[in-house]
Amino acid sequence: MKAAVRTRYGPPEVVRVAEVGKPAPAGDEVLVRVHATTVNRTDCGVRAAKPFLYRLFLGLRRPRVTVLGTEFAGEVEAVGGGVTSFKAGDRVFGFDGTRFGAHAEYLATPADGLLATIPAGLTYEQAAPGTEGAHYALSGIRAARVRRGQDVLVYGATGAIGSAAVQLLKHLGANVTAVCGPEHVELVKGLGADRVIDHTAEDFTRDRQRYDVVVDAVGKSSFGRCRRLLRPRGIYLSTDLGPLSQNPFLALVTPLFRRRKVVFPIPGRPDRQLAGHLRELISSGAFRPLVDRRYPLDQIVEAYRYVETGRKVGSVVISVQPAPPS
Ligand SMILES: NC(=O)c1ccc[n+]([C@@H]2O[C@H](COP(=O)([O-])OP(=O)(O)OC[C@H]3O[C@@H](n4cnc5c(N)ncnc54)[C@H](OP(=O)(O)O)[C@@H]3O)[C@@H](O)[C@H]2O)c1
Repeated sequence: MKAAVRTRYGPPEVVRVAEVGKPAPAGDEVLVRVHATTVNRTDCGVRAAKPFLYRLFLGLRRPRVTVLGTEFAGEVEAVGGGVTSFKAGDRVFGFDGTRFGAHAEYLATPADGLLATIPAGLTYEQAAPGTEGAHYALSGIRAARVRRGQDVLVYGATGAIGSAAVQLLKHLGANVTAVCGPEHVELVKGLGADRVIDHTAEDFTRDRQRYDVVVDAVGKSSFGRCRRLLRPRGIYLSTDLGPLSQNPFLALVTPLFRRRKVVFPIPGRPDRQLAGHLRELISSGAFRPLVDRRYPLDQIVEAYRYVETGRKVGSVVISVQPAPPS
């Protein structure tokens, strides 16, 4: 089968499309013929081993995982002997953030992981970006215990995580102020934001409103800069380590000393329950994954380069199987 392979850490150019062995599903796994996948920020960080700390988990000198890709949508080709929840022919979408492997024509993935049937009416390319951004956004929202009626600011509202956060917060009944660039104001309003701040026209950290939660979904701010936006007992939540990798440390100490605290969410194991929840959110229209550009698998290096501009809107999709003739 064809897969996007890399055998060392480095820039997008370390990735090449090559022939590799087709995986066989273990007893508790499903073999998916991948139709669409994404290149996301996790793939970029793991490919380059940035931060360097990643090497402790991924292989010190060389990466143990050679095929990246966490999100996928495709058709079940075969199931392991112990699998009863899926069958050959099912159209599925899912996420495997531990083993990766979705940048390939076939992927073997646990049946009890984040795997669900694709909601009716969705194409593979629309379904593939439906998991990672929403999973991380939901982890943060749950860790901050956001409640109906709370005021929440989302900085980086156009990223995969930010755009999911705006939609999931509105679904929960929060009042959402979103921060984005001028060309994305209408898009973000369309996601449900009650108010939008253009970060090129206004410094959002000088905003007069106070918030129960500030979500930095793009990793470009800090607790220090956002503290004045928070109400007493307010929460600063980030999807990133922070400019000095300070956020995990602040998440440990701020609850002890400060009335305003940092939460650094560690996403839980994605499981069947989460898969069902995301499927329901997409089916009901509460969450619509945003798709930016699409690339064929052969052009995955270009896709990596684009994602690393930091300017993508939502997700960048990779079409693995050629589209059927219309
Ligand atoms: N915790 C985890 O496990 C995990 C996993 C994946 C990603 N992440 C982190 O989460 C962050 C978001 O990733 P993502 O894929 O959702 O989004 P992304 O692709 O990094 O976000 C792109 C959007 O961010 C906005 N942006 C770029 N630079 C900005 C700046 N200086 N100030 C304000 N906005 C800026 C741009 O929109 P506008 O032009 O509209 O501003 C752009 O469309 C990244 O920092 C990534 O490292 C964490």
